[in-house]
Amino acid sequence: MYQLIKPLLFKFDPENIHHFVTGGLRRASRIWGVKPFLKNAFQLDDKRLEREVLGLKFKNPLGLAAGFDKNADFIEDLAGFGFGFIEIGTVTPLPQPGNEKPRMFRLPDDEALINRMGFNNQGVDVVAHRLRALDRKGLIIGGNIGKNKQTPNEDALGDYIKCFDQLFDVVDYFVVNVSSPNTPGLRELQEKEPLKNILNSLQHRNRKNDISRPILLKIAPDLSDSQLDNIIEIIKETNIAGVIATNTTISREGLLSPESLSKETGGLSGKPLRKRSTEVIRYLSEKSGKAFTIIGVGGIHSPEDAIEKLNAGATLIQIYTGFVYEGPGLVKRILKGILKVVK
Ligand code: FNR
Repeated sequence: MYQLIKPLLFKFDPENIHHFVTGGLRRASRIWGVKPFLKNAFQLDDKRLEREVLGLKFKNPLGLAAGFDKNADFIEDLAGFGFGFIEIGTVTPLPQPGNEKPRMFRLPDDEALINRMGFNNQGVDVVAHRLRALDRKGLIIGGNIGKNKQTPNEDALGDYIKCFDQLFDVVDYFVVNVSSPNTPGLRELQEKEPLKNILNSLQHRNRKNDISRPILLKIAPDLSDSQLDNIIEIIKETNIAGVIATNTTISREGLLSPESLSKETGGLSGKPLRKRSTEVIRYLSEKSGKAFTIIGVGGIHSPEDAIEKLNAGATLIQIYTGFVYEGPGLVKRILKGILKVVK
């Protein structure tokens, strides 16, 4: 069905279609009978898919990656497609418009996207308020946090703390995003000292609360082996729960798309990212001796891609671009594929 309407959807600007489809989904799910239909068509409940990770109970290991529902606008509707968890954000302390449009591009020849959204979001206060009003029904929600564009890197810690505090009561785990290529200088925070400072400070706040929230670090696929070694050391030292590997890449290697598209500035996601993101997962898992949780994301477009990530060392996985190219049926297909290989 999705493959039939996809050529029509793909005729329009990707960001406009994103808003059109998510808005339409919200309106549709208010219609009587639509929710049970979605449940039947898209969801797969099976005990063998349940996972206890990060001290949390996931109904299945497949989540929606950050960036799709930045402002936590559509959580209930997206949950209808059968995800085990949804990550909102990246959220920053203050609302910000992001980069000028167009800022999202389809590369159909590569089944990829390039985006330079630039953390467009409504700000942490609005998002926290929205999450507080939500009927969670046991759904696991991750809060992906970042810094505002105008905040200099020296003051970035304050931005992460503000987001952490504001979202503490309304998310189940946190993701510290220092790996978006679309906020100037952000990826420099992946260096040892600034990163340790941010993670230690958030862990300190975690310890001050009665309960603590697992913190994961989202990393770029463009890090060298020695940078990945540093990441392993930092995770062990700061004792955070794990890593999300990976964010989008700035590499354009091996693309089939015309240069007019591939030369667009921004982060590349989708199929061309799959191999590198799996390599990063495998490297982190093997080199650390499976010392922490890895959420694998990057180029999962099929059950085989999902299983590849799990075999490389990921305990949970996420999708974004595959969801756009394959449609919502991909969630159930992946879960069925995982069921075939679980003992
Ligand atoms: C993203 N991604 C992303 N990640 C993040 O941590 N914060 C964000 O705000 C965004 N925003 C965003 C917007 C768009 C349009 C895309 C395509 C992606 C990255 C995303 O969560 C994921 O890590 C990568 O896209 C790789 O996975 P896929 O897309 O190959 O499945």
